[in-house]
Amino acid sequence: MVIIALWPSSSPSQSVFKHPVVEAQDGGSGTAKQPTGNNAYCAVCHSQEGRAVELADGLTLDLHVTPDMIADSVHGTSNPEGVLGCVDCHGADAFPHDDPLPESGRAFTIQMSQICTDCHVDQAQDNLDGVHAQGLANGNLRAAVCVDCHGAHDVQPIQDHPELAAQTCGTCHTSIFDEYKESIHGEALLVNGDTNAPTCTTCHGVHGINTPTTAQFRNRSPELCADCHADKDLMAKYDINTNVFDTYLNDFHGTTVAMFEQDDPDVASNKAVCYDCHGVHNITPADDSKSQVAKENLLATCQQCHPNASSDFPDAWVGHFEPSRDRHPLVFVVDLFYKILIPGVIGGFAFLVGTDIFARARHIGGGKKDKGPRAPDSDVLAKSDPKKEG
Ligand code: HEC
Ligand code: HEC
Ligand code: HEC
Ligand code: HEC
Ligand code: HEC
Ligand code: HEC
Ligand code: HEC
Ligand code: HEC
Ligand code: HEC
Repeated sequence: MVIIALWPSSSPSQSVFKHPVVEAQDGGSGTAKQPTGNNAYCAVCHSQEGRAVELADGLTLDLHVTPDMIADSVHGTSNPEGVLGCVDCHGADAFPHDDPLPESGRAFTIQMSQICTDCHVDQAQDNLDGVHAQGLANGNLRAAVCVDCHGAHDVQPIQDHPELAAQTCGTCHTSIFDEYKESIHGEALLVNGDTNAPTCTTCHGVHGINTPTTAQFRNRSPELCADCHADKDLMAKYDINTNVFDTYLNDFHGTTVAMFEQDDPDVASNKAVCYDCHGVHNITPADDSKSQVAKENLLATCQQCHPNASSDFPDAWVGHFEPSRDRHPLVFVVDLFYKILIPGVIGGFAFLVGTDIFARARHIGGGKKDKGPRAPDSDVLAKSDPKKEG
């Protein structure tokens, strides 16, 4: 009862802020320490609804946190090691709490995310190498921390929910999310629930996200797309051509990028990679008028790098398809023509030469069939040497 009596008299200015997180018992190998499940003390105050405290930046911290919230999370009843108690994360922090309240809600969230790193050592380590932790270290307080992506009390499993991952990234990267949502990949995942389509983390990674605008990322990006687009079984489901990767590599653009990737991975190729033609977050099928490779937009796409290209320029490129009667019939016919003509000419020539040699051999060897091998007739050789003629 003493505790409850204290509640109304505690003003934010007197209150304190401390989270003495207990050391992980295993010395920080990534597995969690044993939870105690001891919530009773904290719940006396924090189970009361409507309790809140205002921070200096005007943000209101809702103090109402109940053990049920934890029970419904990954740290709750589904946790193989038992339900986490308040003190497992916050420490046994008796009231009045020790440290002063933080200046802002953002500072609070960043500071409190340290709690997660004590138990999830591997993810915390990966995260350190990523763009968000680096942004934060350089003073960008808007960069994502654990709690931004996972929440705190209500952490839900996200691994098998690529759609949740996209929505999570989308809370900050709003314009990219809006583009992605309208793309063939975003529509497949978010509207049709098709988990074969890439989500943000498929292409960018999760905790150790690299800057995607580096030379290395650019030069390797065709392989990223090929992971799925060269997979015959996967693409058969959508009736999408899997020649795209091979034809790209045979193309003057792809050949050079592939060589770059091997010889000079740190120098960005100026040759087209998949996303120069198709777009990145806004990819749509080629027959959609919004596509950068749709007939009506293709010239502008080539002109990014071939500024003097004229309207017939895109025709110089046969695309991803092996020429066929239906696609690029002219190329197909020319191709066929050469396929028939060239063997025809060479074959015909070989035939003529062959019959000529045979005829000469018969002429020379006439009547001497039974005498076995013989040396070439010097007369015949002399006749075929132009210098000795005339
Ligand atoms: C006697 C009531 C009371 C008890 C018991 C209590 N708290 Fe608090 N708690 C408060 C009040 C009031 C605040 C508002 C800020 C302040 O005054 O420190 C607060 C704030 C917090 C905050 C957010 C801001 C800050 O200061 O860190 C956390 C986290 C917190 N309490 C955790 C706990 C945990 C964990 C326990 C159990 C070990 C606990 N509290 C027990 C009253 C209480
Ligand atoms: C898995 C670790 C974890 C557990 C378990 C946990 N907390 Fe928290 N708590 C956090 C983190 C992280 C934050 C910071 C959240 C933020 O910045 O939005 C937080 C914030 C708070 C706050 C500040 C207000 C708010 O909601 O942001 C209070 C009060 C609080 N916790 C009380 C409790 C109580 C009471 C319990 C037990 C019923 C508890 N917490 C259990 C990690 C935990
Ligand atoms: C006291 C140790 C501890 C703390 C602190 C802690 N966790 Fe956990 N966490 C666990 C345990 C134990 C599990 C369940 C076992 C497992 O699946 O790894 C778990 C599971 C998870 C999972 C699901 C993992 C999976 O494979 O299903 C996520 C996501 C997660 N925690 C995120 C967080 C975040 C975010 C924070 C900070 C707000 C946090 N954890 C704080 C111990 C902790
Ligand atoms: C930018 C958003 C983001 C941030 C920041 C982030 N995570 Fe994650 N985390 C994810 C996503 C998305 C997944 C699901 C991974 C997947 O799809 O395989 C995940 C998965 C996890 C898992 C489940 C096991 C695993 O590795 O798949 C744990 C545990 C976890 N995160 C802990 C943390 C901790 C601790 C931090 C802070 C150091 C953190 N995360 C920061 C987005 C984030
Ligand atoms: C809380 C907001 C927030 C969330 C959530 C978030 N990000 Fe970020 N992200 C940022 C900020 C801010 C930066 C810029 C960091 C810096 O200063 O370099 C950034 C940078 C990036 C960059 C590098 C951009 C560049 O030009 O180098 C990538 C890629 C990225 N985020 C991807 C993701 C993905 C994928 C997710 C989801 C798993 C995600 N982000 C979730 C805020 C967020
Ligand atoms: C199919 C793969 C793919 C998917 C899916 C994808 N990205 Fe990207 N993303 C890329 C590539 C490739 C680049 C580099 C583009 C460039 O250099 O112009 C990039 C660039 C970025 C950048 C930095 C450059 C910029 O435009 O600001 C951010 C931030 C980013 N992506 C976030 C996201 C988010 C958030 C999602 C999910 C909504 C997402 N990405 C989905 C491949 C992808
Ligand atoms: C994780 C697998 C995956 C990755 C990675 C991926 N895609 Fe896709 N892509 C798909 C799937 C699945 C579809 C079909 C979706 C549908 O039709 O519902 C698709 C559809 C497309 C289409 C539309 C084809 C059509 O005509 O219908 C294009 C174009 C495309 N992707 C280009 C790319 C490019 C370029 C990249 C790399 C930047 C890429 N994709 C990366 C899985 C992937
Ligand atoms: C990202 C820049 C970029 C884009 C976009 C691009 N190209 Fe290229 N392309 C190049 C570069 C650079 C070369 C020179 C290759 C070499 O010499 O190794 C090239 C070479 C060519 C060539 C070989 C003949 C020549 O002029 O050297 C043709 C044909 C060509 N591109 C057609 C196209 C078509 C058609 C498109 C549009 C569908 C297109 N390109 C889009 C950068 C691009
Ligand atoms: C120089 C521009 C250019 C480059 C580079 C390029 N594409 Fe394409 N892509 C096109 C055009 C134009 C079409 C539509 C006509 C066609 O299919 O040939 C297309 C069609 C596609 C299709 C649809 C196929 C179908 O069945 O309808 C997919 C998928 C695709 N490209 C993926 C890729 C991938 C993956 C890469 C990189 C490995 C790539 N593209 C590189 C221009 C390009």
